Amino acid sequence: MRVGILGSGLMGGKLGTLFARAGHDVVFSYARSEQKLKKLARDAKGNARAGTPGEAARAADALLLAVHWSRVDDVLKQAGDLSGKVIVTCSLPMNADDTGLVIAHTSSGAEELAKKVPKARVVSAFGTVPSEVLFGVFAARRKAKKPSLVYCGDDAGGKKIAVQLIRDVGFDPVDAGALRIARYTEPFALLIAQLAYEGDEGPELAYRFERYGRKG
Ligand SMILES: NC(=O)c1ccc[n+]([C@@H]2O[C@H](COP(=O)([O-])OP(=O)(O)OC[C@H]3O[C@@H](n4cnc5c(N)ncnc54)[C@H](OP(=O)(O)O)[C@@H]3O)[C@@H](O)[C@H]2O)c1
Repeated sequence: MRVGILGSGLMGGKLGTLFARAGHDVVFSYARSEQKLKKLARDAKGNARAGTPGEAARAADALLLAVHWSRVDDVLKQAGDLSGKVIVTCSLPMNADDTGLVIAHTSSGAEELAKKVPKARVVSAFGTVPSEVLFGVFAARRKAKKPSLVYCGDDAGGKKIAVQLIRDVGFDPVDAGALRIARYTEPFALLIAQLAYEGDEGPELAYRFERYGRKG
């Protein structure tokens, strides 16, 4: 797949690197320095290059949106026409100092994003894990017991693409349903962040859902 990264920071830089290592064709875009984008592309050691958001979007089969909520409008504007594009968003609708959600209960960041780009196919994924765990999950991807990763969206084709990317990083995808379920997954992401960053055991935290009691 050709994957465009919109926002090449902690999440976009790492996920883009892992997508490239999994064999995808990656364009890193949107950082404050082009040197950083070029270094990410070099270090990814796969099929990766630096580009503008417009270049990242043009030929992409999937886009990862990984910017602070306050930068969403700007990066979308730079990306250009996103009609028909699959946008996998890990961006949480956080306030300026990252202490709380500015959208919740009656909507979600993912739904507000879908309103901004009504012709795109938005899937919410990857926002429920800290960036620090991504390389560890990838390194363990051949193990039988994988961490879960919830995702949601309204477009079946877009979700299929997201599932591929989620598996490629080493997670077990858990379909949480329609995009409106991001109203639950986004606050859940804050719980994970609380455990990752305020606990004593470091931020390399993932989660796993288990089912009990059926079929004996
Ligand atoms: N970090 C996590 O563990 C985590 C986990 C779950 C969800 N999220 C969500 O994922 C999203 C991305 O988070 P992140 O931690 O990856 O953020 P980040 O490290 O700050 O990355 C954001 C990217 O946007 C770029 N950027 C910011 N302002 C810019 C501007 N004016 N012009 C051009 N580029 C600009 C940054 O450039 P520079 O590289 O030059 O700084 C960076 O590459 C957020 O919505 C966050 O809530 C993060």
